[in-house]
Amino acid sequence: MRVIQQASNLGVLQLGLTGGEPLLRKDIELLVAAAAKAELYTTLITAATLLTPERATQLRDAGLDHVQISIQDSRAAESDYIAGTPSFKQKLEAARLVKALGFPLTLNFVLHRQNLDRIDEILDLCEVLKADRVELANTQYYGWAYHNRTVLLPTRQQLERADAAVALARKRNICPMGILYVLPDYYEDYPKPCMSGWGNRALVIAPNGDVLPCQAASSIPELEFANVRNHSLDWIWFESSTFNRFRGTEWMPEPCQSCDRRQLDFGGCRCQALLLTNNAAATDPVCHLSPHHHLITTVTKQANQENLDSPLPLVYRSMQM
Ligand code: SF4
Ligand code: FES
Repeated sequence: MRVIQQASNLGVLQLGLTGGEPLLRKDIELLVAAAAKAELYTTLITAATLLTPERATQLRDAGLDHVQISIQDSRAAESDYIAGTPSFKQKLEAARLVKALGFPLTLNFVLHRQNLDRIDEILDLCEVLKADRVELANTQYYGWAYHNRTVLLPTRQQLERADAAVALARKRNICPMGILYVLPDYYEDYPKPCMSGWGNRALVIAPNGDVLPCQAASSIPELEFANVRNHSLDWIWFESSTFNRFRGTEWMPEPCQSCDRRQLDFGGCRCQALLLTNNAAATDPVCHLSPHHHLITTVTKQANQENLDSPLPLVYRSMQM
């Protein structure tokens, strides 16, 4: 609660309560109330399986502004398969509950090779559930998605069909606040401006109090994270070595250093650069100007040759790996 007030003093406007699963925390209502007091706009980003009517009402009374629910597919069996647990029915019930309590509702679908062909059904479901806003985010290949890249990376043809379906849904205006559609960056010529730039707009506070410039930053071994138990958020944001490591453009290597897009995409994603090149300071290999761009094109070429009908099994997240 102290940190939430510090964030507000620092100029933060929005608090996303995310995870993992934020509803596992028994004190989430207290945090929402503290954020409301600090005049932050709060979003609960949840898988929704723990969102009971009692809990949702308590959160509304504490001042929660907005709920985002993730659903994995338009059909129960397929959604449960990706989620790794039976949850589709509960997610639909939770979405209806959120609307009944008067919250604005965002539905988030992570898209990939196994569900992209059902994009029309997914958009229909958003309409049926009366989503105010829809996020269709193609998988980005870090963490467990990276382990499952061959199974999840779509073909160019799938993406083109999905593009057309989204354009049609936008034309039909199926939700008042619009559809955010994020392409898989493997099919882009330029990288995404990850986090809108390192230490530029957002920060992530982990459950242990460590403050990270992005959700995956702990994958970068050279970084040391300052903790809110020992430092003010203000100090961490402005002074800590981690937030300054990739801030701005001075750290950039060529070709980014002399590129006129460096203030637009900030050289791409540091975590992806590390994952693919073993160097967090490298140009993101998604960029067609990167000397490592072949690491991307080799994979997309293979994805467009493989048979869609015989997918490999998924590797699920586990504590053993
Ligand atoms: Fe962006 Fe660097 Fe590629 Fe230029 S070279 S487009 S700054 S990633
Ligand atoms: Fe860490 Fe992109 S996810 S910088």
